[in-house]
Amino acid sequence: MANKFESLIPTAVIVNGGAWGDEGKGKIASREAKYADLVIRATGGANAGHTVVFNGKKLGLHLIPGGIVYPQTTALIGQGVVLDPDSLLKEINDLENAGVKDVEGRLKISGRAHLVFPYHKDKDQLEEKYKDNPIGTTKRGIGPAYEDKDARVGLRVYDLLLPAKELEAKIVVATRMLNQLFKIDGITEVDAHHLAELYHEYGKRIWQMVVNADILVEEFVRARKKIVVEGAQAYRLDKDWGDYPNVTSSNCVTPGALIGAHLNQYDVERVITVVKAYFSRVGEGPFPTEQLAHIKNDKVLKYKPEEAYVGDIIREAGGEYGVSTGRPRRCGWFDAVLVKSSKRALGTDYLCINHVDTLGILGKKLGSVKVCVKYHYQGKIIEYYPDDIELTGEVPQPIYEEIEGGWDISSTARSYDELPENAKRFIELVESVTEMPVKFIGVGPANDDLIVRNM
Ligand code: IMO
Ligand code: MG
Repeated sequence: MANKFESLIPTAVIVNGGAWGDEGKGKIASREAKYADLVIRATGGANAGHTVVFNGKKLGLHLIPGGIVYPQTTALIGQGVVLDPDSLLKEINDLENAGVKDVEGRLKISGRAHLVFPYHKDKDQLEEKYKDNPIGTTKRGIGPAYEDKDARVGLRVYDLLLPAKELEAKIVVATRMLNQLFKIDGITEVDAHHLAELYHEYGKRIWQMVVNADILVEEFVRARKKIVVEGAQAYRLDKDWGDYPNVTSSNCVTPGALIGAHLNQYDVERVITVVKAYFSRVGEGPFPTEQLAHIKNDKVLKYKPEEAYVGDIIREAGGEYGVSTGRPRRCGWFDAVLVKSSKRALGTDYLCINHVDTLGILGKKLGSVKVCVKYHYQGKIIEYYPDDIELTGEVPQPIYEEIEGGWDISSTARSYDELPENAKRFIELVESVTEMPVKFIGVGPANDDLIVRNM
């Protein structure tokens, strides 16, 4: 039977980011995972930071899908991920210490996922150093690991199962060119022997979790089991759709997540795109609705409370500091034009907007909240995110619609009717500009602090 007919009841929910990351994808992914059988991380690596709450404790996960906290789930790290075994083992440890049961029994790792080595992190630093305009990467070796994958010298999880000697030989080949570069920069040559021993030990720790993920996923698909893909990064960080060169090194939009998760288009039940009620970005690159803040070189400068800029006020109200790197995030208003422009990349069915409560507090503090509904760009008014910003050197200037005053939302609100009028106006404005239905509305920090609309 053709694939098309086999998968007539698709069961995979794809959760992805609608802006520049840090939208709270972990929160909605966890909610979806509550009744899921298989949860998957598909792309990126330890550059992602997803907070999940387990037994009232906050856990920052970077590689393992947050749905692992539910005891019925199988969790898969898919082939699109670049995996740092050191980071992985720490996370397993953190989860077990927090009381999550049978992590090692339920966690599966695609043998085809590529590995991150310490030399990738060194190269990440070096690449940034050689740029006139550094990207502000997370320094987790993500770009260089994907570069090795593309150059066909990358090592994969399967290689951890090789005898140490053979692993060493592969590391030697993978680092031959890199060592020349390191020599020029006075960086110590890669010790392939030592690394092979270390990674061979990692292999001994994780070999029982390594699987042929095609077969695993196929079993879940055939049995019509619920699958959740926890996306990492976001639309504007995608290496094709995003603000190149200020992007990450993977395709983190929906089609990229499918490849990374060993799925195909017939498996997709729905796509949920997550955004915040205000926007944030870490690292360099355009950010049309960004507000001024006391941030320099990834640090918050000292300032008196009465001198706070709007960007500072948003950052502090939202607690916008990186889970992976601790960096303060650049903050600004909701950009509905950007979200509308993500349609082709993400194929969104429903939007989830987090921090609608925080936006209400901001509105009360600042007198109003703003939503970008159009841009001024190159002497014209446009309604899409332009793709030649690097060429023109012009960041689109937002045209805002303002909603006067703010609102209070109780984190216990569970129905749309409980929202104050101004909050409803915000949601309706977003829906009318983006042409996407807002099904999920975040009203507080906990996973359950969410209004789910029937639609
Ligand atoms: P989650 O999944 C926010 C950003 C970095 C940098 C650029 C490239 O938590 O939303 P990289 O280390 O990937 O080469 O850095 O991408 N970036 C993220 N920003 N959240 C993330 O993930 C990010 N992953 C990468 O700050 O600007
Ligand atoms: Mg993040």
